[in-house]
Formats: sequence, C-alpha cells, structure tokens
Amino acid sequence: MKAYRARLLRFDADRTARFDEDGMLVTGPDAEGRQRVLAAGDHASVSRRFPDVAVEHLPGRIIAPGFVDLHIHFPQTDVIGSPADGLLPWLENYTFPHESRYAEAVHAAEVAPVFVDELLRNGVTTALAFATSHPESVEALFAEAQKRSLRLITGKVLQDRHSPDGVRDETEQSLVDTEALIRKWHGVDRLGYAITPRFAPTSTPAQLRGAGELAARYPDVWIQSHVAENLGEVAWMKQLFPEARSYLSVYDDFGLMRERAVYAHCIWFDAEDRALMRERQTAAAVSPTSNLFLGSGFFDYQAADAAGFAYGLASDVGGGTSFSPFHTMLAAYYVGREGQTKPGLSLSPQALWWQHTAGGAAALGLGDTVGNLLPGHEADFVILNPDATPLLSRKTRAARDLDELLFAMIVLGDDRLIERTVISQAL
Ligand code: GUN
Ligand code: FE
Repeated sequence: MKAYRARLLRFDADRTARFDEDGMLVTGPDAEGRQRVLAAGDHASVSRRFPDVAVEHLPGRIIAPGFVDLHIHFPQTDVIGSPADGLLPWLENYTFPHESRYAEAVHAAEVAPVFVDELLRNGVTTALAFATSHPESVEALFAEAQKRSLRLITGKVLQDRHSPDGVRDETEQSLVDTEALIRKWHGVDRLGYAITPRFAPTSTPAQLRGAGELAARYPDVWIQSHVAENLGEVAWMKQLFPEARSYLSVYDDFGLMRERAVYAHCIWFDAEDRALMRERQTAAAVSPTSNLFLGSGFFDYQAADAAGFAYGLASDVGGGTSFSPFHTMLAAYYVGREGQTKPGLSLSPQALWWQHTAGGAAALGLGDTVGNLLPGHEADFVILNPDATPLLSRKTRAARDLDELLFAMIVLGDDRLIERTVISQAL
C-alpha cells in the first residue's frame, strides 16, 4: 500500500468536481497485483482508517485523475504543425506521406517510445489512438504501451480506396489482419483493440461491411473513426453514398455504431444525427485544437447536450496542435464560446476538466475503471505543481475558489504543470 498527501481533485457522479485542500489518496494492489485506489478524501478521516500506511507528503501539489485522450494518431507525432488548406489537402500532402513510413517496423518502433513518452509527460494515462494501415505500426505501439503499463486502445487503419500507394490496404487482407490483431492483443494487460476504418470515404462498402461484421462478432472491442469534420469531406461523402440519409448514417448502415464506438469531430451534424448518436450509445471525440488548426468548424456543445449523447476531449495530434490536455481544454473553451446563446460561461472549468478525465472514460465505457479517483479505480493519476512557472504560481495562489484555480491551470498550463504521472503498475 502507498499513500499520498496533497490537494486532491476528483469528480462526483453529477460531474461536479470535489476538492480537498488537505487530501489523501491511498492505493494498493488488487488480486492481479495492479494498483487501485483504496481510499480518497480528506486527510484527517482517511489517515485515521490507514494509520500504518507509508505516506508521501506533497505540500502545495495537486493530485488529479490522469487524463483520457479520446482520439489521437500515433503516426502523426511528426505531422503536428503542418499547414494546409483544410483536411483533404492536409491528408494528401502531409499525413499520407508520413504514415507510409510505418510500413517499416523499425520506423514504427523508433517513434512508439517518443509517442508514449509525450503522452505521459503531458499526464495522459489512457488513450484511444489510430495507428496506420500497416499491422507493424499496431504491433510497435501495443508493445511499447505494454512495456510502460499504459492503458491504450489502438487498431490497424482500414483504407482500401481513395488512398495513395503506401497507405492503401487490400479489402480481404485488411480484415484478416484486423481479426488476427484483435486475437493477439485485445484484453491483454491494459491493452484494447479498436476496429479502425479511417473514415467512410477511404473504405469500400465491402471493407465497411467486413468491419461491421467484426464489430458484431467482438462486441467488447472498440470502434473508432472520423465523421462530419469538414465541409469538403461532407460534400465528397454525398457523392460517394448518394443514397445515405447522412454521413453518420453510413456508419450505422454498416453496423459501426454501438457502445464502445467513438467518432472524432461530429461537427456537421443535424438533429437526426445527434439523436442517432444517443440511440446507439455512440460517443464523440471532440478535438478543438485540430478543428481550429484545420479550420474544420466548431463542435456544438449545446446541441450535443440537448440530444444527450456522450462525448469527451481529444488532442487529435497531428491535426491537433498539442499533446497537452491543458491546451485542449483551453481550445474547447474557445469553441464553446462560438454560437453561444445562453448567458454565463459556456463551459465551466469543471466541465472542461471532466470532459478530459471522467467524461472521456465514460465515453469509452471505462467510467468505473479509469478517469477518476474513487475506490476501485485503477491508480492512474497526475501530480500537478501549480508553482511550476512564475505566472502559474501567481495566478493559482490568487485563486479564490476552485473554478478560479482550475481555470488558471487550463489557461496557463502545459507539460511543465505535470510534475509526475503515476501509472497503475502491476508490481
Ligand atoms: N479524416 C480522415 N483521416 C483523418 C486524419 O488523419 N485526421 C483528421 N483530423 N481527420 C481525418
Ligand atoms: Fe483524427
């Protein structure tokens, strides 16, 4: 067992934050030896229940749940900051050429530790990530995540048309490869598999159908893709699937909307799309730095809440510009301001933080496992140092309440604020 004494942030079921100025977190191994939260709360009461535990005292520090990144591309680590006139030219000119290099296992194995390091330096302890169409890229990322005990879900990208040589796969083989990777990796340690059609324009109907069949055969495997990100893409989809009610409904028609399905962006939706998301219990990965960088549009938070479908925050590196959850939360705040009709704050700091922790975990169907620090949760957390920079220190010390403290960190924070990332290791 191990205990930490510090300020402590976690979330109640109603999404509000709970904060202890003098808190204590106690962790201990479960039956498999994995560290889980045994108790979290006020130091005076928790320490009474665990009088003999060794305590690490962290004055001035804040312990908070590890962040959940609901959508990120491992092979786009080096694509960050590539300017283009919108999504489709960005894919063609930067992304596909970069991703073609992951056919080489050596290259994938070189970048995988860089990617995992970057996640952990930024306090991300659970990620749903795209690999490339090459099984080698999936192998490299799973192997690295397993070595580091990271909770990681990834999958081989499916893209058998409208894709250049070097990234395009072959329909039959792509499905055989997907199933082999599911059998090898899904549920091993903290790893999970996601069936990963890149987006409907780059898959034949046969590939989408095959993906949907695998999704039915392996119901606890995840599904990830992109939808309704950019207007050029939406227009292209209309040409490719003239019969479909909408872009989103194409995925539904192929059996690719269900629990554990996560779609990035979800910007250019209508009311029927939003109702379908809720009905199928499918989640959106909101990727604000990417949407701002590529000029894609703005996720409609009010309409999403009115429809009642699940969502969480995502970096979408390398369309997104940062691995830092603080940068993503700040960008989400800007996006929430767009089209705001109600007075007051569009997105409170507690709502933003929830979306990147407990909300993201719930969107993955892992709300009882990660994303929060309640008894039974895996002990994935960050230790924040609010004195990490002079301005952060001034601002956080002047904060009069929890909202002001969280906002100071969201607006001024980056990887320097993350003093340590603790992963639930099997000891
Ligand atoms: N749509 C299809 N592929 C991609 C991708 O790699 N990034 C983003 N942002 N959108 C996509
Ligand atoms: Fe993406």
